[in-house]
Order: sequence, then C-alpha cells, then structure tokens
Amino acid sequence: MKILSSPSETQAFLRNISRAGRTIGLVPTMGCLHNGHLSLVRRARAENDFVVASIFVNPTQFGPSEDLAAYPRNIGRDTALLEAEGADLLFCPQSSDMYLQGFSTSVAVSDVSERLCGEFRPGHFTGVATVVCKLFNIAGADKAYFGAKDYQQTVVIRRMARDLNIGTEIIICPTVREADGLAMSSRNSYLAPDERKAATVLYRALSAARNAAENGERNAGNLVLLMREIIGAEPLATIEYAEAADADTLGPIGSIGEIAGPVVLALAARIGKTRLIDNLVV
Ligand code: PAJ
Repeated sequence: MKILSSPSETQAFLRNISRAGRTIGLVPTMGCLHNGHLSLVRRARAENDFVVASIFVNPTQFGPSEDLAAYPRNIGRDTALLEAEGADLLFCPQSSDMYLQGFSTSVAVSDVSERLCGEFRPGHFTGVATVVCKLFNIAGADKAYFGAKDYQQTVVIRRMARDLNIGTEIIICPTVREADGLAMSSRNSYLAPDERKAATVLYRALSAARNAAENGERNAGNLVLLMREIIGAEPLATIEYAEAADADTLGPIGSIGEIAGPVVLALAARIGKTRLIDNLVV
C-alpha cells in the first residue's frame, strides 16, 4: 500500500490512475479504524480497481468545546488494517496542507445540515461538507463510500454532490454493530465499562420503536415517546435529541405526525461524557 500525505501529489497520482482507465473507490475516515470503517473498504475493494482510504481528523468539523485534541489516533494500527484489506493508497494529510494560510472557502449545505445533530453542533456539517468536497476533488474517485451510522452526514453529502454536480457516486453502507447492538464508533473507546453496558440503550430504544412501527404504530410522536422512555430509564444516559424524521429530507413528519413513507429514527445521547449517535430507517 502506498502512503501519501501531500494533497497535490495525491491528486496528480490519482489522475494518472484514472487516465489509465482504472476505477477509483474512495473511503474517507478520521482513523482509529474499526469494523465499520473496514466494511466500507471491503465494499470499495469489491467494486473498484483502485482503493484509496483517507485518514484525516478534520479540525473544521469539531466545535470549540469538542474532542478534537482527545480524538483517538492510531496510524500504525490503521495502516496495518488497511493493508490487510487490500487498500492501494492511504492518504493522510497534515492539517496545514489541507487548510493553507488564508483558507477562506466553505461548503454550507443549508436545511439538511440544520436539523438533528446540526442543532447541537453548529458548523459541524459545514466542516464535513467542506473537507469531503476537498477529498472528492483530490481523489477524483468514481465512487465514495459512507456509513449509514452517520445518517445525517450521508444526507448532507448526497445533497452537496447533487447540488454541486460532483461526479463521484455516493454509496451508503449499512451500520456495523457490536454483538449487543451498539453501533461501532471510534468514540466507544471513551466509555468506561459501566458506560459501555449502558450504551446499548440507544439500540434498544431504536429497536423498540422500529418494532412498534412494524406492528402498526403510525404516529411519529408515539415512537419518539417510546424511545425517550427507554433511554430515560438508563441513569447513565442523557438524551440530546430523539426524533422520527422524513428519511430523505430529515424534516418533520407531516402536521399530524402520521407516518406514510420511509422514516429515520435518530438519536443522540450522552453516556457519561461521551456523545453517541445512532439511527434506524423504518
Ligand atoms: P469517521 O467517523 O472516521 O467515519 C468514517 C466513515 O465510516 C463514515 O462514512 C462513517 O459513517 C463510517 N462508519 C463509522 N462507523 C460505522 C459503523 N459502525 N458502521 C458503518 N459505517 C461506519 O465520518 C467521518 O469519519 C468524517 O465525518 C468524514 C466523513 C471522514 C469527514 O471528515
């Protein structure tokens, strides 16, 4: 596996891959890789001639009081894991090369960025859209792979790609979970043992709401109440938001809250100090 850190060198290298007629699959990550990330690499490996993974802990998507400095990093282990999955190139730029002195452009995807996590993490999705747009421009990939675990992120990126005529096809892959249902996340490493147990409450709440919907509950408000009740019973958990939203627009479900089409059940909660998100589409 080749490793490059210069954006311009990576761009030139990948342009030659494209010109040689080889398809490129891109997997953007912030590293500290787990099976969720690796599932994207596997899918990219299966569908492309050349697989690029990026590792970049993007400062612009972290708020001033968030965990940028503490965010887990393990480039040695990540390199070995990517190599084992057959990735062809690891792109791991420095922040100062991604954001040059005087950097003054950003990609703001209004509306879908403002809901759910957007209300609690102002500027987060602008940071994500900006860096992903840069990665798309650097890689010139045919396909790029994202996880459904970060559902709102996939909606924002799809909207950006559509609105800005980005030629890269966006592929969304299913959420990979631990045996007890907890969605894999680099941030799970922050959890103390009792918090790790408590963290299963997110998936339990989502599953209960999904079961209710599958058994005929059509009122979005009732699904939200059910999720709140289950999370409320876990002393270590504090809800940030629990919502049932239109799966395409992330907007509210009609005026009377009756579900007609696909709905995303989305949660953010703190387990102790660690903020976790999860979702299910029903
Ligand atoms: P990161 O959190 O490292 O995640 C990288 C990719 O892995 C994202 O597409 C994310 O949705 C996916 N992923 C994470 N956990 C997953 C799981 N349990 N199952 C399936 N996929 C999972 O998301 C980011 O980084 C950043 O915002 C990024 C897109 C790289 C922009 O900086």
